[in-house]
Amino acid sequence: MDIRKLLEKMTFEEKTFQLIQLNSMFFKQIGASDATGPMEDLQLDNEGIKYVGTTLNSMGAARMKEIQDEYMQNHPNKIPMIFMQDVVHGYRTIYPIPLGLACSFDMELIKDCSAMAAKEASVDGVQLTFAPMVDLVRDARWGRVMESTGEDPYLNCLASKAQVEGYQGDGGKYTLAACVKHFAAYGAAEAGRDYNTVDMSERTLREYYLPAYKAAVDAGVESVMTAFNTVDGIPAVGNKWLVDTVLRKEWKYDGVVISDYNAFRELIVHGAAEDEKQAACMAMNASVDIEMMSATYPKYLKELLAEGKVTMEQIDTAVLRVLRLKEKLGLFDNPYADSNEEEAAKFILCDEHRALAAKAAEQSAVLLKNNGVLPFKKTIKKIAVIGPLGDTGEIIGFWQCGGEAKDSVSIATGLKRKLGESKVFVEMGCDVALNAKCDVKRIKAAKKLAKKCDAVVLCLGEHEHDSGEGNSKLHLDLPEVQYKLLQEVLSVNKNTAVLLFTGRPLTVKRLHEQAPAILNMWFPGTEGGTAAANLLFGDVCPSGKLTMTFPQYVGQCPIYYNAYNTGRPRYNEKERVGYCSSYIDGGNRPLYPFGYGLSYVDFEYSEPTLSATKMQRGERIIASVKVKNKGFYEAQETVQLYIRDLYGSTVRPVKELKGFKKISLLPNEEKVVAFDIDEESLAFYGSDLKRKAESGKFAVFIGASSDCQPFAEFELL
Ligand code: GLC
Repeated sequence: MDIRKLLEKMTFEEKTFQLIQLNSMFFKQIGASDATGPMEDLQLDNEGIKYVGTTLNSMGAARMKEIQDEYMQNHPNKIPMIFMQDVVHGYRTIYPIPLGLACSFDMELIKDCSAMAAKEASVDGVQLTFAPMVDLVRDARWGRVMESTGEDPYLNCLASKAQVEGYQGDGGKYTLAACVKHFAAYGAAEAGRDYNTVDMSERTLREYYLPAYKAAVDAGVESVMTAFNTVDGIPAVGNKWLVDTVLRKEWKYDGVVISDYNAFRELIVHGAAEDEKQAACMAMNASVDIEMMSATYPKYLKELLAEGKVTMEQIDTAVLRVLRLKEKLGLFDNPYADSNEEEAAKFILCDEHRALAAKAAEQSAVLLKNNGVLPFKKTIKKIAVIGPLGDTGEIIGFWQCGGEAKDSVSIATGLKRKLGESKVFVEMGCDVALNAKCDVKRIKAAKKLAKKCDAVVLCLGEHEHDSGEGNSKLHLDLPEVQYKLLQEVLSVNKNTAVLLFTGRPLTVKRLHEQAPAILNMWFPGTEGGTAAANLLFGDVCPSGKLTMTFPQYVGQCPIYYNAYNTGRPRYNEKERVGYCSSYIDGGNRPLYPFGYGLSYVDFEYSEPTLSATKMQRGERIIASVKVKNKGFYEAQETVQLYIRDLYGSTVRPVKELKGFKKISLLPNEEKVVAFDIDEESLAFYGSDLKRKAESGKFAVFIGASSDCQPFAEFELL
């Protein structure tokens, strides 16, 4: 398809509608849902939507084909629509939420999961996914931390690249175009309150928040979604410096940029635009191509052009980006792309995909505490599954896409499959709602069951819809009724392990003090029960490591490992010490630090070594350590390398993750783990906002979590 020739054939009106995206309901209603409601709101008529360029949420291959067929019949130039959807952690076979999957520290696994999701979605009518979400996060009050891969820029960059490569593959069959979001720094919403103000220095933005989007761009991501929030006082969707200067000119990105949902019109609510016309003007001058779920471009670009506030070149450039993406997706040759009902039926929820989802859930789980009750002995005759999340499929997380609870393997089902129906008994004990009341009878029934069983799996946490978009929280502990259930169960059975289900770090200090064992399952997805059964009985050893700090108190938020030292760091965690950076009513230390996660075995680390103590420019030095499995199970350990720049033209974090290696060790096996340290790994944005390594001294850390001590120093000359 010669898209430039096609562009010449398009009317001005066609071009402006090519730049908007409407929900698929506008084209084909489902049930009584009234799509025309937003039509009036958008001041659109049926004539206009004939030319709409893209749509979201196709809901299946058959419906996608029907919509595309009708649409193409009416389109004067037969330009097909792109069907987009939030395939964030699975399409129908759902794997763990990204904040959980990142804890696997396994980039190949992350890539495989994205590729699996792309295969299911592409045959079911989707050509582009609004993923990966790579917003760096530091505040567990924000509900969307579940969608991110955590607080570290180095890890986020690797996970961003892995997801883009997984979704997009070689661009051929069964792949999706990816859309990295939310550009930029949405994860820094003040007070963890969704859609709230983001305000930070350009240095902080460039050092911590931008790298993961850049990693996606460098990996060839086909589209970028702008964030709802302000960046330096201007909402991202209308922020010319952010989108046109940084993304397009500095990073040389010439792909499609799409707004978030109705973000154009929110420019008015923010107070950045007087009206829809000015909103359209800001977005076009920021070089945003597609307007999601609003229609200011069709309404006002003609006037803006006449007034000289936008140019025809800008409009044509935006349309060409959209047409070029459609060409790349093969839609001009085949408007159905990979949609194929038979293949959808074959691939969706197939055994291979379920097996991958189970493996991902196993690798994502983080063992937070274990006094020895885990793994359970296989000689157990009776096991109680107690708690509001023990016998439900609602453990797949917020962005469920096409995933359904009915297709999930609950914890109880997973255990029944492993042990046999007759050995597993279930009592909920209480509801999972934030304000769940204590029902004495239900607690009593749970206590009675716990008393007569050999072991108890106590499934606690938050509901999957209490994290994710629009679900920020003021309190991060478990509801009181869940602690009541815990105490009653423990009063009659100490052989109890808690499975924690959560979309975010929780301030579960009391749970840590009382529970014999805690295995954080996050929201594990469709095969959560399968994974939990394998983990609880030691067929798989937990190996997950946290990629986001768990605070002790919500008052510590935002809290993250790679913080600055300050001029008065708190050295004494036990006593109240005046005039230092601390709280008078609690400590600074987290409940669980970044990189933390236990195993069923102990790993013995040797004294690490450095190959040199001086590094010339352009050279590298090697840090290495021996790690031995001292236990009785094959187990995996993620060995982590941190570096501290002891002084610089700007202050530097107390440590930064600069490498990790996940190794498998048989009982008594020992391996050498070595890390290259080069100049690039020491570079940062200094006081001149230039990214480079500054000469000086560096401390080196190697350990099983960020809570490790330095073992040596070297000097960059
Ligand atoms: C939502 C989210 C964004 C998502 C979009 C389309 O508001 O912010 O992540 O991709 O709308 O569903």
